[in-house]
Parts: sequence; structure tokens; C-alpha cells
Amino acid sequence: MTAVLTFASKSAEETRRLGEGIGALLREGDVVLLSGELGAGKTVFVQGMARGLGFEGSVSSKSFVLLGEYAGRVKLYHADLYRLEAAEEVAELALDELSADGVLVVEWPERAGEDVLPKEHVRVEFEVTGEEERAVRISGVGERIEDIIGRLSD
Ligand SMILES: Nc1ncnc2c1ncn2[C@@H]1O[C@H](COP(=O)(O)OP(=O)(O)OP(=O)(O)O)[C@@H](O)[C@H]1O
Ligand SMILES: [Mg+2]
Repeated sequence: MTAVLTFASKSAEETRRLGEGIGALLREGDVVLLSGELGAGKTVFVQGMARGLGFEGSVSSKSFVLLGEYAGRVKLYHADLYRLEAAEEVAELALDELSADGVLVVEWPERAGEDVLPKEHVRVEFEVTGEEERAVRISGVGERIEDIIGRLSD
């Protein structure tokens, strides 16, 4: 069974709060993959996740740095693969090892080969539906992920 949840966000702050809600439910080993065009709200969502994980500092857009690390209740690793050029670069990041040690969130996961990323993950897709409106679809397969999505919809 695939768990799916959809939201219509009307502001950046609303998307941030959605990320915060997910962040509060995550624990070490969880992986979240974010898809959507440039400016869709992926980084805004990560800012919320960091807040939900108890990190109080700021989260920047990682387009020039492949990996950011934020220490909250659980460590949050934030990878942005937009500028990834070669398969070796993603191998060097050792994303599966990182995820064992914290929560891993990835922007532009499609830039990496699908087999490089952990099979069990929460997928969040953002669609720009208006200047300040975004359709957000959260899905995933796996016992743990269905539990997260189930709690989010409560
Ligand atoms: N409902 C909304 N949800 C999220 N962001 C919104 C919303 N409405 C407007 N915005 C604006 O859209 C922009 C989203 O930028 P953000 O950096 O999060 O995009 P991104 O998906 O990470 O893009 P990139 O692929 O370039 O990293 C911000 O400037 C934000 O203020
Ligand atoms: Mg971004």
C-alpha cells in the first residue's frame, strides 16, 4: 500500500510549517526526497524540517555546497544535488552512511542515480500552482513511512 497525503500551501510560512510537522516526527535513519522545479519551495520546507528537529539556526540554500549539516534533537543532513556533475561526486557524499547517523533530506534527488539513494524514503513533491501557492504531495512506501504519513494526517 502506498500512503499519500496532499496539501495546498498558500504561503512560504505554511510550507515551512508543513516541513516542521514532518521534522517533528523523524528520527535517525529517515530519508526525505524533495522534488519540484526551481523555486518550488524545497528549501523552505527544509527550513521547517530543521525547526521540527529542534535546530534553531538558519538553513541556507545549498546550491553551491552539496551538503549542509544541522545539529538539533537529531542531526539533519541536507544535500542539494542540483549542481552534481558526475556520479563519483554523489558516491563521495556516502548518503546512505549519513542517513544512518541522522535524518537525510535531498533536493534534486533525480540528479543522482535512483539506486544511489535509500530505497525506503518519504517523497515530497512540490508543484507551483500560483505565485504564492504550491501543491504539496507527500508519499512513500514502507511501514515506517506509512506511520509518518499516518501521523501527519491526524
Ligand atoms: N506557498 C509557498 N511555499 C513555498 N515557497 C513559497 C510559497 N509561496 C511563495 N514561495 C516563495 O518561493 C520561493 C521558494 O524558494 P526555495 O528556495 O524554497 O525553492 P527550491 O524549491 O528550494 O528551489 P531550488 O531548486 O532552486 O533549490 C521562496 O522565495 C518562497 O518565499
Ligand atoms: Mg532549494
